[in-house]
Amino acid sequence: MNNARVNFLWGVAASAFQIEGAAGRGPSGWDAFAAQPGRIKDGTDASVATGHVDRYREDVALMKELGVGAYRFSISWPRVQPSGTGPANLDFYDRLVDELCAAGIAPAPTLYHWDTPLPLEEAGGWTNRDTAYKLADYASAVAERLADRVPMWITINEPAEVTLLGYGLGQHAPGRNLLFDALPVAHHQLLGHGLAVQALRAAGADNIGLAASHSPVWTAGDTDQDRQSAGLYDTLMNWLFADPILLGRYPEGFEQGADGDLEIISAPLDWYGVNYYSPTLVGAPGAALDSYSGFDLPPDLPFGIHDLQGYPRTGFGWPVVPDGLREILTTLRDRYGDRLPPVHITENGCSYPDEVADTRRIDYLDGHLRALAQAMAEGVDVRGYFVWSILDNFEWIEGYTQRFGLVHVDFDTLRRTPKDSYRWYQEFISRAPDSWPGTHRAGPGPA
Ligand code: FCB
Repeated sequence: MNNARVNFLWGVAASAFQIEGAAGRGPSGWDAFAAQPGRIKDGTDASVATGHVDRYREDVALMKELGVGAYRFSISWPRVQPSGTGPANLDFYDRLVDELCAAGIAPAPTLYHWDTPLPLEEAGGWTNRDTAYKLADYASAVAERLADRVPMWITINEPAEVTLLGYGLGQHAPGRNLLFDALPVAHHQLLGHGLAVQALRAAGADNIGLAASHSPVWTAGDTDQDRQSAGLYDTLMNWLFADPILLGRYPEGFEQGADGDLEIISAPLDWYGVNYYSPTLVGAPGAALDSYSGFDLPPDLPFGIHDLQGYPRTGFGWPVVPDGLREILTTLRDRYGDRLPPVHITENGCSYPDEVADTRRIDYLDGHLRALAQAMAEGVDVRGYFVWSILDNFEWIEGYTQRFGLVHVDFDTLRRTPKDSYRWYQEFISRAPDSWPGTHRAGPGPA
């Protein structure tokens, strides 16, 4: 049964800023943001992170032993082009890609995972339409060097978070508080995505998608205001980006951009990437919790984010709701029908403080893989799954306090130690490929 799934891709994910360290690259907007007092919870920065840039061979060896078919990493734009433009230095990624290929692991790079070169951020970052064209130039340079060995490409990561958290609410870099005036940031990232797709294809790259965060939005309360607020939030987080890309139009009330932009944005993709962590409970304005960060939200927002009670929680406090993955996948399928290309789960994972005996992460992964199998049984065409993350890393404003890795990193010595979840995933992958999900059984670990 399900022979079509023989090529299901098992992977792990990470991003440049979170693991590499700053040696040999230019500064990004995130470096400048992290240097501002009070921005990062533990007062740290990403200047060393996991030291991956010097330890990539060891990290690739860990992935090889894990048995993954693909590694989703990101290319640091300020490492390639410190000023965001001009000559490109891809030497590190050239070596990394060679190392991955030699290990039999497909390199799956993301061009932009939030680390805008500082000079571009200072020129307005994503409020500036020109950044979209800069991204496309950078995409060309990357593909010209790597397309001969890279079988799978991701343009941008989570444009919704960049827009909302970075430019709307100021919790992430660049720390702007534009609220709804941040909407052009959405459009410029979308345009950047579309132009990057063109640039990649022109340089011979193939198999292109993006990584979009999706969260089922559940309505708190049952007043009209609650429903309206939840609907608005749903549009902002789930459809503001997916509709232009997959349907070639903005959700009603959010139309923007110049003539011809939507055609560029909606060029057919080879696949669509979904990052899933948990559902979001949203109601009328008033509740003041942002489930991502625990920050207080400005009181004048037209929605309120509520605490989702009644579920286990990760170390981050995020509710563990595996069925939310099935729900968002079937929702995407229902909304887009034939316009939805095959899906990859480009991120899914959890933060727990456990050093090596991380039974709760095993539980989390097992539950979400079952939910994924269920979504596939309900007809969603999913082709791959990437655990976030291979390594404990710099978790943005949480600094080093939230550990998402299958591999533990001692941030003093940079020593790597595989956790129990790494062994579990290794065993799972070794047993899964030919039958998954048709005869899916949980791996060793809690049922
Ligand atoms: C996602 C980001 C990723 C990581 C996970 C936990 O929003 O794409 O870099 O921080 O959350």
